[in-house]
Amino acid sequence: SQSPTTASAPASNVLAAAKPAGKLTIIYASQTGNAKGVAEALQQQAQAQDIAVKLVSAGDFKGKNLTKETHVVIVASTHGEGEAPDDAIELHEFLQSKKAPKLPELHYAVIGLGDSSYEFFCQTAKDFDHYLAKLGAQPMLERLDCDVDYDAAAAEWQLQVLEKTQQTLSIGEAEVVQLPVGQHQPATAVYNKQHPFSASLSVSQKITGRGSDKDVRHIEIDLEDSGLSYQPGDALGVWYDNDPTLVDAIIAKLGLAAESEVDVDTETLTLRDALISKYEITAANPQFVIQYAEISQSKKLLKLVADKAKLRSYAAKTQIIDVLAEKKATLTACQFVGLLRRSTPRLYSIASSQQEVGDEVHLTVGVVEYQHGDIQRQGGASSFLAQRLEQGGAVKVFVEANNNFKLPADDNTPVIMIGPGTGIAPFRAFIQERDNREAAGKNWLFFGDRTFTEDFLYQVEWQKYLKAGVVTQMDVAFSRDQAQKVYVQQRILEQASQVWQWLQQGAHVYVCGDATHMAKDVHQALLTVVEQQGNQTPQQAEQYLNELRKTKRYQRDVY
Ligand code: 2AM
Repeated sequence: SQSPTTASAPASNVLAAAKPAGKLTIIYASQTGNAKGVAEALQQQAQAQDIAVKLVSAGDFKGKNLTKETHVVIVASTHGEGEAPDDAIELHEFLQSKKAPKLPELHYAVIGLGDSSYEFFCQTAKDFDHYLAKLGAQPMLERLDCDVDYDAAAAEWQLQVLEKTQQTLSIGEAEVVQLPVGQHQPATAVYNKQHPFSASLSVSQKITGRGSDKDVRHIEIDLEDSGLSYQPGDALGVWYDNDPTLVDAIIAKLGLAAESEVDVDTETLTLRDALISKYEITAANPQFVIQYAEISQSKKLLKLVADKAKLRSYAAKTQIIDVLAEKKATLTACQFVGLLRRSTPRLYSIASSQQEVGDEVHLTVGVVEYQHGDIQRQGGASSFLAQRLEQGGAVKVFVEANNNFKLPADDNTPVIMIGPGTGIAPFRAFIQERDNREAAGKNWLFFGDRTFTEDFLYQVEWQKYLKAGVVTQMDVAFSRDQAQKVYVQQRILEQASQVWQWLQQGAHVYVCGDATHMAKDVHQALLTVVEQQGNQTPQQAEQYLNELRKTKRYQRDVY
């Protein structure tokens, strides 16, 4: 038999290749599309190496069929408190259940995507790894838990996993494989994370009032000639430059020269340029704090590092420059950038429907603020979009499809949308879409923010849609307009019987916005509705909502 990598050169689209007897199945568990992207890249690499490969979403893969597989790679992202992506809930549950079969024949590898700032970092990947090992499957190589800037690490792991796959796949008799036309041709040029489209900013308008403490922008970006298309629920990936003023302040604080050279991938850049475009220099992350504590020997930081919960909360509200200010340390330019995470694009839920806006894409961007003593600091991406980017200025973007946040296929299905604050964004897209499609289904919108006069995002548009009957019902909660806080979940509870009625009619429920508090409280309110109105026990209500999640009738886009 012949090594699969020494296949003879293609003559037209017929390849004479040694066909390995087995195949590699790549299962992705993706919420927002990152894991799917990694899985697709792995699939392409495998194909380039003539490995027979199948790519499948965890939602379309039956756990019991694992007994039919010999080689499996799972690419899994993790959300919230260590939760599996919606598509992967069933497989995740199945593998830890008594129903899971023994898998002594299976070679597997797991790669996780997550954010090391969170406590349950890459938990879904850890779970899959653990369950498969317990079922007797054999790891091909060690699991890789990737942080948000995963590209380089994932690419390296990919090569390793394919090498192991080649080694363990039994090589069958050489035979002629007829490849379908196009299989080895590069995909048509579409823009993606690695190759973003250089779009231009056409509108940036503050939509919170003068008196608001919050700066929320309505942003319009021109996608003309990009060929990019998107669906309501998708996100726009935005690459951004850091604030040069902040970069200069960091360089000064470190006592370094802006022109010092650093190597980034295959380029040599000045420290200043590298910090502007290649590294995350705003939000600190626990890993940075841990390393800087060690280097600076700051007593305060060393104490923080010893307490994981305190460390996480400190890192979440402190910027890199303010960590540096805790205690001076001597670092070279290369050492400093070595402590940083690579910059990653930010994903913003798209606030428009192409049926309404054509070649444009709209976003609702809240400028992230960090209060450090009396200094006000801002988030890197949001301040770039809202403040540094000028009208007509270039911004590198790509579309990140989100198949876990989609309008019902049937236009008659009612939808309930819960989106306080900038969580309103995708619902503007939903409503525009349903309006243009003249969808018959009812639309119920829950919105909340601080005050009616300053923070009612897109108020005029909602009034128009209400009047036209496109928005069937709208309930708002302005938390700071009275002594007692009022939140969207309270409105849901007040309308419990009607919410239940809509659910009985098959309504889909969508939640977008804050994950830490709001999404949990809203989930709790929905449980209460099901318990009270449906006469169910707490366990039954939990099961009911779980069933809604599995059947994609309860979808969340929370951050
Ligand atoms: P607050 O800041 O006045 O407490 C959008 O940010 C809106 O979400 C604001 O009105 C904010 O209220 C509110 N909010 C804060 N915590 C919330 C929670 N746990 N559930 C729902 N809404 C919340």
